[in-house]
Amino acid sequence: MINLSNKQIILGVSGSIAAYKSAELLRRLKEAGANVRVVLTTGGAEFVTALTFQALSGNPVHSELLDTKAEAAMGHIELARWADCVIVAPASANFIARLAQGETGDLLSTLCLATAAPVAIAPAMNQQMWANAATQKNIRLLDENGVLQFGPGEGNQACGDIGPGRMLEAEQIAQLTADIFHTGSLAGRTLLITAGPTQEAIDPVRFLSNRSSGKMGYAIAQAAAEAGAIVTLVSGPTALNTPPHVDRINVRSAQQMHDAVMQHADKCDIFISTAAVADYRPVHTADQKIKKTQNTITLELQKNPDILTDVAHLENAPFTVGFAAETENLEQHAREKLQRKKLNMIAANLVGEGLAFENDENALLVLTANTKQQLTLTSKFALGRELIEVIARHYQAAS
Ligand code: C5P
Repeated sequence: MINLSNKQIILGVSGSIAAYKSAELLRRLKEAGANVRVVLTTGGAEFVTALTFQALSGNPVHSELLDTKAEAAMGHIELARWADCVIVAPASANFIARLAQGETGDLLSTLCLATAAPVAIAPAMNQQMWANAATQKNIRLLDENGVLQFGPGEGNQACGDIGPGRMLEAEQIAQLTADIFHTGSLAGRTLLITAGPTQEAIDPVRFLSNRSSGKMGYAIAQAAAEAGAIVTLVSGPTALNTPPHVDRINVRSAQQMHDAVMQHADKCDIFISTAAVADYRPVHTADQKIKKTQNTITLELQKNPDILTDVAHLENAPFTVGFAAETENLEQHAREKLQRKKLNMIAANLVGEGLAFENDENALLVLTANTKQQLTLTSKFALGRELIEVIARHYQAAS
């Protein structure tokens, strides 16, 4: 089954009779779980109306580059950043020529230049136009520039010709789109990931906890599964759905998380500790609900085990990645933690009002003993994928 859950896709539709197939493609992408925004060129709008795409995507259709109303809602740079990938289907000969030249006269080609996300084209044109030396030269240029190419297929064409130039079927394009995210960089590797907060019981109805949503850890777990890893996620209480192909173990307290992790740690290749584990727990948990009979009460706390340190100090320790949430002196505190906890890598981020914890976006400073890499502010899903690729590279270099 094609899986595109949590993916943000721009579907570009340029002027070709195959544009009618884009409506079906949009449906397939949505069914696979993607959030899709359609960018329609003037040529594309000659074949299928914006209304069709708007109704199917549930999002407004974008077509003007310099429309103040559209720019105010979601400007072209914002749209370019929003995308996890851009799929231009159909890509007409005219659009391919413009993209190869790096032109910016319309919204879709501008977006393709402005995005850091992968761009793929699904060419659709008459077989003679496809075979033409100018088109083939443009295709080579795009290939050199890293633009992915889906198809074209061969067969009967709308113009009556037979040959190469048919746009691939919606199902094939949806599958190729999903394949973009399946990097295989951790194929067969076993990953153990902690995520979310822990809850430290005070009595049967109250607990100590923190603001962690678990989103970062879940995004990393999803990215790891997509990279081909076998993933176990040990999760504190969150409101999130388990990512596809991820094995989830639910825990509440730090001690339960510690026990679950230790059961699996010696069997994993990589351990990623994103959980915001409570540092302390009440010494006593009351059996019954504490009554408000006294004006002040004292809660005595004791330190929880440090799960990350315990894993990193195992005799056969996996490649161990910690997180550092800091309010100041990010690099200094993170580097100190990297050394003290004997980690292979640490991913550090600033926390505080409106930052990281409850947000859908984050930025990370990734440190190893002798490297430093900044992953800039983006969605936690995109960041999870970037981090997994960084981890895969360092893990391979270390093993
Ligand atoms: O020392 P500090 O809590 O700042 O370190 C943060 C890192 O340690 C995170 O990766 C967190 O998941 C992990 N940690 C842990 N067990 C604890 C406390 C923190 O695994 N009890």
